[in-house]
Amino acid sequence: MIIPLASVDCMADWMRAGRIAAFPTETVYGLGARAGDHCAVAAVYRAKQRPPHNPLIVHVADLEQALQFADFAPVAKRLAAHFWPGALTLVLPLREAAPISPLLLAKGSHATIALRVPTHPQARALLAQVGAVAAPSANASGRVSAVTPEQVVAHFGGSPEPVGLFAGEPPRHGIESTVVRVLDMRVSILRPGAIPHEAFVDVVGADAMHARASSAVALSPGQLPAHYAPRCNIRLNVVAPPPDAVFVRFGTSPRTSDEESLSPRGDFAEAARRLYPLLHKYDRPHITLAFAPIPEEGLGVALNDRLQRAATV
Ligand code: TXA
Ligand code: MG
Repeated sequence: MIIPLASVDCMADWMRAGRIAAFPTETVYGLGARAGDHCAVAAVYRAKQRPPHNPLIVHVADLEQALQFADFAPVAKRLAAHFWPGALTLVLPLREAAPISPLLLAKGSHATIALRVPTHPQARALLAQVGAVAAPSANASGRVSAVTPEQVVAHFGGSPEPVGLFAGEPPRHGIESTVVRVLDMRVSILRPGAIPHEAFVDVVGADAMHARASSAVALSPGQLPAHYAPRCNIRLNVVAPPPDAVFVRFGTSPRTSDEESLSPRGDFAEAARRLYPLLHKYDRPHITLAFAPIPEEGLGVALNDRLQRAATV
């Protein structure tokens, strides 16, 4: 059930009353609960049908607030200073007695917490009012993230859990944050996202950067091979328009009304903004989307990551 919330103030009141709400960030919509509220955090897991071992990102207003929750090695401070506020999620050692519900943490041996300071003005206004907010992407577990209020409604309209919805300024990236773990001075990307690998090398140097963790699934439980899944079929690296599928170009314009293009001029940022709306548009089982190859560089790495998971059944 969706309850429209007309303003950030209204959403702040709603969350203080122990409820959960979907709101835009600069990456995708999040489904948030106050991070210290056990019942509300549990409601996020119920609404998403998210497995309890998959931890949530805690959104905070600034680095000062983040210091309450995690231990920042010097390299983590450098990353935060450079990329926050922004589309970087840092996975760091959890501070003892951090004021959060343990329900939102990764279980097992890694006593870590994922933290992000968003740039989105209304998300920031919310955090300023209610404090830290635990928010996964606002979609049913394993499915395509929402970048519009309509997509949030499509995911949660039928949910027995009351979900507040604040339809604010749209996400400008349209793809999730980059999740980066900093442990023992080593920096590894657990999930490629809106900030490309190259940007991290520029800030911390190639030596501190580990190749993308091949065991990212074990380290980041959300990184399952099948994820971001639409109901349609997906084919990848298709070079010519197939007769039986919608051809999705990259770097060229659609040639017929049946074709699509993620970005006619081959712009990764534009392609990132168009990807999820396209997957939502064709979210029907009898449709096949055939994607042209996307170069594996810059934001193309995150686009290929999402497409590969969307294509895995
Ligand atoms: O852009 C984003 O990151 C959006 C917005 C709302 O902030 N959020 C988002 O959350 O994409 P979610 O839950 O859909 O994805 C977070 C990812 C998951 O793969 C989860 O397993 C991983 O981050 N994660 C969270 N806490 C972690 C931890 N302590 N250690 C390793 N991975 C963690
Ligand atoms: Mg997600």
